Order: sequence, then structure tokens, then C-alpha cells
Amino acid sequence: MTQDELKRAVAEAALAHIRPRLEDDSVLGIGTGSTANYFIDALADLRGQINATVASSEASAQRLKQHGIPVFDLNAVDRVDFYIDGADEANPYLQLIKGGGAALTREKIVAAVAREFICIADGSKLVDTLGAFPLPVEVIPMARSHVARELVKLGGDPVYREGVVTDNGNVILDVHNFMIPAPLEMEKRINNITGVVTNGLFALRPADVLLLGRESGVETLHAR
Ligand code: A5P
Repeated sequence: MTQDELKRAVAEAALAHIRPRLEDDSVLGIGTGSTANYFIDALADLRGQINATVASSEASAQRLKQHGIPVFDLNAVDRVDFYIDGADEANPYLQLIKGGGAALTREKIVAAVAREFICIADGSKLVDTLGAFPLPVEVIPMARSHVARELVKLGGDPVYREGVVTDNGNVILDVHNFMIPAPLEMEKRINNITGVVTNGLFALRPADVLLLGRESGVETLHAR
């Protein structure tokens, strides 16, 4: 199977995972990226039964609307029942690196609200230690150089993602050569740097369920 076929398989598995618990008033949080796009496309088969979604990016909101699926502002709903999103890396504790698509802040907000966070990824995303994938950090533009210097002090090599402006009007630094054996502590330390909006570590709020697409089928991992 290709990586895209594995992504489509986990997206369909995510829909099967939530479908028995879907109610008329369920609110779905929808992530961003190629795997989340497969989920949105699978969701289109249920159009008419999905009455409320919130999206973690303008791109996902647009794709949902193109399928005729209603999209609400997060402030207009009182809860998010399920949040379905991809990841750039996941460890066995279901702590994640996200933000390859620059949507990390809104993703983190929707994940914080969600009752259940279902992460969907192809099997190549599972690692023992996070950090081979460069860690994205969303930064207020005027703080870019200051934050970069602070990230160097933490041991990383930050690289400005040229030409990218987030949905929130900010910029992204990708931290290379930065293995992260203690994700909880590092998430807090980076968030404490003045000028950081958020970072792509999802350890304070990890996934609840990880659906991993493998050649042998979809594997389900639960938080330890
Ligand atoms: C978007 O900002 C990211 O967090 C994505 O969830 C992540 O990059 C995974 O993307 P793919 O599903 O395209 O691999």
C-alpha cells in the first residue's frame, strides 16, 4: 500500500470508530493536513447526518463547506465531542508533534476542548522518541529572532519557514536536530518563551486514541 492508501484507511477507520456514538447534536472537531483531508472526504458520505463541525484551519473549513458539511466557529458551540486529526510524529504515550501544515495553534485549541482526540496517521509516524521531525513553533513576527535565540539555548537549530503565514497572522520556526525525551517539560519550557504563541508538542493534551495505518491493517493504540 502507498502512504496515501494507508492515510485513507485510517481516515475511514476513524469514521467507523466514532460512527456508533454519533448523535444528531454531535460536534466534530476536524484537523488539518492530508490525512485529515481523507477524513473530511469520508465524512461527506454522512452529509445530512453531521450537523456541526469546527475546523482547525481555514483550509479544512473550506473543504468541509465544499462537501456541504456545516462549519461553526468554536465559540458558537458548547463542546467538541470528537476531534480527528493527523500528526507528524507520535510516541507510544500518544504524545505528538504536529504543525507540519502550520495549523498547530488552532489544532491545539480544538484538541483542548475535545472530549476525545482521535489521532490518525500512517505507521511511519510512530517513533520511540519525538524530534526527528523538526518541531514547529508559532511565533509573533516581531519576536522571531528573540525566540530563535532562546530555542538555540535549549539545544535546537531553529529555521524560519520562509513564505508561511499562519491563519493567525504569525510565522513558524521549525526546530531541527532536537530530540525530545521529556515532551511534557519541553512543551511548557517553549511555551514560556515570550513571543511564542504555541509549539507543536501535544504532550499536555496527548491523543486519547491513535489509529495507525499499517500494511497488515489499522492498529488501535490507547493512551498508556
Ligand atoms: C497540520 O498543521 C499538522 O499538524 C498535520 O496534522 C500534520 O502535519 C500531519 O499532516 P499529514 O496528515 O499531511 O501527514
